Amino acid sequence: MTAQIIDGKAFAARVREKVALHMAWLKEVHGITPGLAVVLVGEDPASEVYVRNKGKQTVECGMNSYEHKLSDQTSEADLLALIERLNADPDVHGILVQLPLPGHLDEGLVINAIDPAKDVDGFHISNVGRLATGQKSMVPCTPLGCLMMLRDHHGSLSGLNAVVVGRSNIVGKPMAQLLLRDSCTVTVAHSRTKDIEEVCRRADILVAAVGRAQMIKGDWVKPGATVIDVGINRVDAPEKGLRDDGSVKTRLVGDVEFDSAAQVAGAITPVPGGVGPMTIACLLANTVTACCRTHGLPEPDGLTA
Ligand code: GUN
Repeated sequence: MTAQIIDGKAFAARVREKVALHMAWLKEVHGITPGLAVVLVGEDPASEVYVRNKGKQTVECGMNSYEHKLSDQTSEADLLALIERLNADPDVHGILVQLPLPGHLDEGLVINAIDPAKDVDGFHISNVGRLATGQKSMVPCTPLGCLMMLRDHHGSLSGLNAVVVGRSNIVGKPMAQLLLRDSCTVTVAHSRTKDIEEVCRRADILVAAVGRAQMIKGDWVKPGATVIDVGINRVDAPEKGLRDDGSVKTRLVGDVEFDSAAQVAGAITPVPGGVGPMTIACLLANTVTACCRTHGLPEPDGLTA
């Protein structure tokens, strides 16, 4: 068997189109332009790339983008004061504080200072609790993107065995909650799970979010299963040759060994081009959703959990 490749890039483009349509309606009919504020503290290069991409796509789809770049010496009090201002700003409908924060800042405290209605990351304790208890909430972007692709591929997820590998607050745990809400039988596997290969082989839906390059092999996959690979890992690629400075070039791989898994799975997301593009698309979707909820207006169809 050779798996169907789930094209996250094309799917993300369709999500952005739906966002743009709803945006146009908000603007023309209600005179409202959604706004997203992104806060970056320090100069972590990977975070700077993420934040640049977020800003670019926010503007491209017609939203207002507010970027706040703060020095890595910023005090907690100053960061909290900025969040307070953004909470009170009626032009800002979504607030995202890029993680990780420098070590002297308490991430929990900072995230929980964001108005839950503007918490487009879905990381605020009240959104986490609302998701876990089946109430309307903001949902973390990466698991939301995975859910959209799974619903699109399967229609109903009811009764399917889902295994989520990884128990992070950003992906693993909210992914498990979302799959449970769609009536899957959910197992969360992690570094201490016994017979993890056997656990994975029971999955109709296998979501890999461990952050370990190519950990999940083809013989861990049930024939015909749907494999969603959330991992983005950089590995040496000597076959690509050397850079000018003599170092080995690299390439991106997922948490799944793609070539062997694609022989067994029914469908699989590639890396790059699978889950990755969906994360920012879902951030835009969450911002429009937050804006609609704030104004008591209808939410876009198919862009929420
Ligand atoms: N850092 C890496 N991924 C994310 C994310 O989804 N949201 C935030 N705020 N920071 C991140």
